[in-house]
Amino acid sequence: MTDGRYTRIAMLFHWVIAAGIVANVTLAWVWPYLGDSSVRPAIDTHKSIGITILGLAILRVLWRLTHVPPAFPTRYQDWERRVSGIVHGALYLLIFVMPLSGWIMDSAYKDAATHPMALFGLVPWPRIGAVMALDPATKLRVHDLFGATHSYAAWALYALVGLHVAGALKHQFVDRHRELQRMWPGREPIL
Ligand code: HEM
Repeated sequence: MTDGRYTRIAMLFHWVIAAGIVANVTLAWVWPYLGDSSVRPAIDTHKSIGITILGLAILRVLWRLTHVPPAFPTRYQDWERRVSGIVHGALYLLIFVMPLSGWIMDSAYKDAATHPMALFGLVPWPRIGAVMALDPATKLRVHDLFGATHSYAAWALYALVGLHVAGALKHQFVDRHRELQRMWPGREPIL
């Protein structure tokens, strides 16, 4: 890109994955308060959104590897470039760790075989065969280990998304740079 913006495809990946994460975190915070009949559909929707995020994350990384993003504006401080590079890298990692840890935990669920999964109730989706084939005791340990990973990674995600949003808002409203426009379609160059 030459006008300082990300490509339209990069923007689409960014906002669709962000919306999916907000939806999944909201579901996970809300389902403890739902009645019995609503909990199961909420968890199933959570799994479906999570697997969709995994697919989008793979495509996003392939896109990122084959398309150079716009350079950081030269007015940014060195430490800002370093911190945002680290935060972006960690966020890329988490869009894999969150769904993969969830999928492994779910594959180790003791009743997985009798409770098949379908994406959005429509498309049958497999559990991970190697995990399902473990003996019951190991399966329980794997379930707990990846459940804990899923939970700790969620806290890391909150912290990193908080930093990411705070950084963007600082550039936009404190430094008065056209930061949000970099990730939003528009016609005029923002360099
Ligand atoms: C980016 C994708 C995902 C995000 C952001 C996400 C987020 C979360 C969060 C915040 C929780 C609550 C953790 C806690 O209570 O400490 C949770 C729980 C859970 N997630 Fe995910 N998740 C994602 C993907 C998945 C996937 C792909 C699956 C399974 C296929 C899954 C299965 C579950 C299950 C079963 C729980 C409940 C664990 C329990 O309370 O026993 N998640 N998720």
